Amino acid sequence: MQTGLKDKIALVTGGSYGIGRAIALALAEEGCRVAICARGSERLEQTAGEIRAKGVQALAVAADVTHEGAATRVIDAVVKAWGGLHILVNNVGGAGGLERRPVEEVPEEKWTEAYQRNVLATQRFTLQAIPHLRRAKWGRVVAIASRQGKEGGGRPWYTMAKSAEISLMKTLALTPDLARAGITFNSIAPGRVIFEGNEWDQFRREDPERYAQALNQRVPIGRAGTPEEVAAVVVFACSEAASLLNGACISVDGGESFSF
Ligand SMILES: NC(=O)c1ccc[n+]([C@@H]2O[C@H](COP(=O)([O-])OP(=O)(O)OC[C@H]3O[C@@H](n4cnc5c(N)ncnc54)[C@H](OP(=O)(O)O)[C@@H]3O)[C@@H](O)[C@H]2O)c1
Repeated sequence: MQTGLKDKIALVTGGSYGIGRAIALALAEEGCRVAICARGSERLEQTAGEIRAKGVQALAVAADVTHEGAATRVIDAVVKAWGGLHILVNNVGGAGGLERRPVEEVPEEKWTEAYQRNVLATQRFTLQAIPHLRRAKWGRVVAIASRQGKEGGGRPWYTMAKSAEISLMKTLALTPDLARAGITFNSIAPGRVIFEGNEWDQFRREDPERYAQALNQRVPIGRAGTPEEVAAVVVFACSEAASLLNGACISVDGGESFSF
């Protein structure tokens, strides 16, 4: 399959490690120029180096996406460097760690933080990107949501925010003038994804037996996914070949979700 991604300009938020890094590297593999943003400079520069090692240009912009003005600053930097933008992957998100308190005792800040990272950052980056996608007469916007945002369950502050993120993509996809300008909006809904140092990796190290049991019981493929498995689906959603894919929310969860 031809992805048609050579020389396209892509921005991946939270592209320095985890799923975002795998997406950035997979887009680079297809010939995109790839910009990434994250808060920590060290891993950002390291991943930018890995992108360049694939023979394409990379741009690393240190930014906290929840800060006022971050979306404008990051997208301006990409456009200044390369003259436009074709692909935006809204990857920053997360639930803000495990929580043992009963739901009614979880402080308001946890809910607002999750909303900031998963929804408002996606909304701001997307709105800042749209004029550049219109200028290019082609665009792909992808949100990395979650299985729970699609069908409920899990930590409610996170699930609520992920549902809102999916809703934003769907609603923009239903906007005829954007769709007819060649701009598509889709969500990808991963299940459990493991990489070194994340929550699942910690669980596996601390209690390998319970970890294996949980996956065996709940995930039909019997294991967690990898960032690269998620990235492969994102590359397709960003490709020329995905021209009819608009407003979809694709589960990438080894069969764990119950919804169609
Ligand atoms: N892992 C899973 O099991 C799983 C499952 C379903 C959905 N997801 C979703 O997939 C996405 C990626 O998650 P992940 O598990 O790969 O790891 P993550 O820890 O949520 O994200 C890692 C990336 O985001 C950056 N980041 C975090 N907060 C940021 C902020 N405020 N501003 C800018 N960059 C920020 C990190 O760099 P810095 O820390 O240096 O800023 C890093 O580059 C999230 O939206 C998450 O909700 C993950």
